[in-house]
Amino acid sequence: MRKTTLITGGAGYIGSHTALALINAGHKVLVLDNLCNSCRECIRRLEQLTLTRVDFIKGDIRDPVLLDDIFSRYDIEAVVHFASLKSVEESVRKPLDYYANNVAGTLDLCQAMARNNVFQLVFSSSATVYGEPSHTPIAEDVGTGKPVNPYGRTKLMIEELLTDLCDSDPRWSIGLLRYFNPIGAHESGMIGEDPRGRPNNLLPCLTQVAIGRIPELTVYGSDYPTVDGTCVRDYIHVVDLAIGHLKALQVLQHNNGIHFWNLGTGVGYSVLQIIHSFEDITGISIPYRFAPRRLGDIAKCWADPGKAGRELGWSAQRGLEQMITDTWRWQSCNPQGYQSSFKIPAPVAVK
Ligand SMILES: NC(=O)c1ccc[n+]([C@@H]2O[C@H](COP(=O)([O-])OP(=O)(O)OC[C@H]3O[C@@H](n4cnc5c(N)ncnc54)[C@H](O)[C@@H]3O)[C@@H](O)[C@H]2O)c1
Repeated sequence: MRKTTLITGGAGYIGSHTALALINAGHKVLVLDNLCNSCRECIRRLEQLTLTRVDFIKGDIRDPVLLDDIFSRYDIEAVVHFASLKSVEESVRKPLDYYANNVAGTLDLCQAMARNNVFQLVFSSSATVYGEPSHTPIAEDVGTGKPVNPYGRTKLMIEELLTDLCDSDPRWSIGLLRYFNPIGAHESGMIGEDPRGRPNNLLPCLTQVAIGRIPELTVYGSDYPTVDGTCVRDYIHVVDLAIGHLKALQVLQHNNGIHFWNLGTGVGYSVLQIIHSFEDITGISIPYRFAPRRLGDIAKCWADPGKAGRELGWSAQRGLEQMITDTWRWQSCNPQGYQSSFKIPAPVAVK
């Protein structure tokens, strides 16, 4: 019988795309999600896309009884751990929620894994662990910096916790995937990013302006030392990111210990470049206004993805045009996210 990969947070944005990539590659998956930032409809759509039943349990990673029950009922080989709260702004207002959910939740998960003899883990980390980089592109060997908000500090604490765990017991094999800026959606338009409440990230804000849910886009800061004064980031297509998890799982099977990999494209785009590319690709003009810089936003950040290339045989394949086209297809087919009844997408008109 095929062994199962447990995906915590698998009903969320990146988790659902990874579940799809794993199922398509022949993995048997089990999704565990408390749906605090996602919904069941996502699982239903995964089933439509894969034409298989997707095992799903609504529950919390901080529930040790549930975790033991899951590990006893399923033959779990590895865990891909996405479950986390992820709003930088909310983490400043509610740090205890973030430390409890993200750090203590990961501790609960690892304890349950150890009790049940499961030692392979892929963890969703973030470029935020580098803090303010002294130079770009950022390679893993620059070491971590000082994250500038509680959310980022939870990611760094978890990285340290998992490193200590690997040092303490050679049975563990753990991959820390440091994502840069995931955007895009599956090309079907059936799954994508569906943030609850007002979105924080650029692309969901931009597409919600385009669809008329938000009147205008706010661009924070116009005086950064960058090509046009706005922040520069390394945007990566979520499907490329999902494939990175598949590659990491393959490598972890034969390589114990702790591993760090940047998942980015190695190319940076400014906020204004993204807005103008979106306008060119969709033909929709985006009203925006400048506001002062946001506390904690760094000027520029993009990855050196060479280590993932060498060790995982992975590199991002999808460029900016596809990222924007796929994001827009998802948003325009699902104006209210997963609350929308899905319409078969018309081809996106590319100018
Ligand atoms: N999206 C990004 O820009 C980004 C960048 C870097 C890192 N990450 C990390 O990647 C991971 C996935 O991010 P995402 O964008 O898909 O977020 P998301 O909010 O869409 O997905 C996270 C999922 O975890 C679930 N969840 C949260 N706490 C849980 C708990 N205690 N028990 C069970 N389920 C729980 C939520 O319901 C949600 O479905 C997170 O760890 C996030 O911190 C995201």
